[in-house]
Amino acid sequence: MKKILITGALGQIGSELTVALRKKYGTENVIASDIRHSASKVAEEGPFYSIDVTNPETIRPVIIKHDIDTIFHMAAILSATGEKDPHLCWNVNMNGSINILDLGVKYGMKRIVIPSSIAVWGKGVPRENTPQESVLKPTSMYGITKVAGELLCDYYVAKYGLDCRGLRYPGIISSETLPGGGTTDYAVEIFYEAVKKNYYNCFLDENTVLPMMYMPDCIKATIDLAEADFDNLIHHSDFNVASMSFDPKTLANEIKKHLPDFKIEYNPDSRQQIADSWPQSIDDTSARQEWGWTPDYDLTSMTRDMISNLIAKHEKGLI
Ligand code: NAD
Ligand code: SER
Repeated sequence: MKKILITGALGQIGSELTVALRKKYGTENVIASDIRHSASKVAEEGPFYSIDVTNPETIRPVIIKHDIDTIFHMAAILSATGEKDPHLCWNVNMNGSINILDLGVKYGMKRIVIPSSIAVWGKGVPRENTPQESVLKPTSMYGITKVAGELLCDYYVAKYGLDCRGLRYPGIISSETLPGGGTTDYAVEIFYEAVKKNYYNCFLDENTVLPMMYMPDCIKATIDLAEADFDNLIHHSDFNVASMSFDPKTLANEIKKHLPDFKIEYNPDSRQQIADSWPQSIDDTSARQEWGWTPDYDLTSMTRDMISNLIAKHEKGLI
């Protein structure tokens, strides 16, 4: 990985992945891009381009100009936004991914990382410790695009010998960039609202257990998989990765240890149905065996870190 392009670099994960990759590989070697622009570290402290992944002609000149050999393809439409506009979700997630893969073949890319999600699951799987190899019958458009995306990557590995990898991220929790329209977003919003207002109106039921992961572990998993030796990989685009699982009530109780006056109410909306179709915990044995995955954070350490980061931001008037 010498010259890296990141799509969707202004998003929740892309924004922190860009900073981590620039630190590791050099600012000038990590080219960030997104369909939108924002005044941010990512766009202002290194190379940044406006790229629409549904239009390959906006991607091609950047690949050629910077002699890109690796792509982290983070541009996507997430689950809740995807249910509001299923065609947009299909277009960005499917056409965006096939454009990246085709350009990868055409320009002899060394490596492409395309994330998947716990949204690949739906009916017909055990919801606890969901296995790596399992029935994939999602009920959301987002989940459908993630299953098809995994299959597409595996097809490009087999047909063109393209080195394409991906992880099934759980819900990602972070304090740098707000999430972009998913079902697990409550687990981020709750921290912001707790720090700012001591109150959160939760859109999921108190007993909805979902798999989650703190951003430092997400970045570690993404870079570790990207750097793993291809010959050690049996899987490619569909690695289960696990870290912690909890429901909103358990998270609220953990937050109360730091903010004792915090109050929460539960008013489930349409996102409840999506959450109910996803696993509660997942078995990540293959990731552990094939590239040495192991998480650093649990509920207690993640909550402590989130509260401390957001209190610091609040005191500076940043949130
Ligand atoms: P996000 O919504 O925060 O960011 C996605 C970015 O893609 C946004 O900045 C958006 O502007 C950009 N984008 C949208 N359409 C585009 C287009 N046509 N061309 C270029 N850019 C476009 O998403 P994220 O949370 O950072 O997710 C990154 C990847 O990780 C996605 O593949 C997502 O499915 C996956 N994932 C995320 C989570 C999570 O909890 N954050 C969980 C599982 C999987
Ligand atoms: N966090 C994502 C979502 O809720 C899971 O892929 O859409």
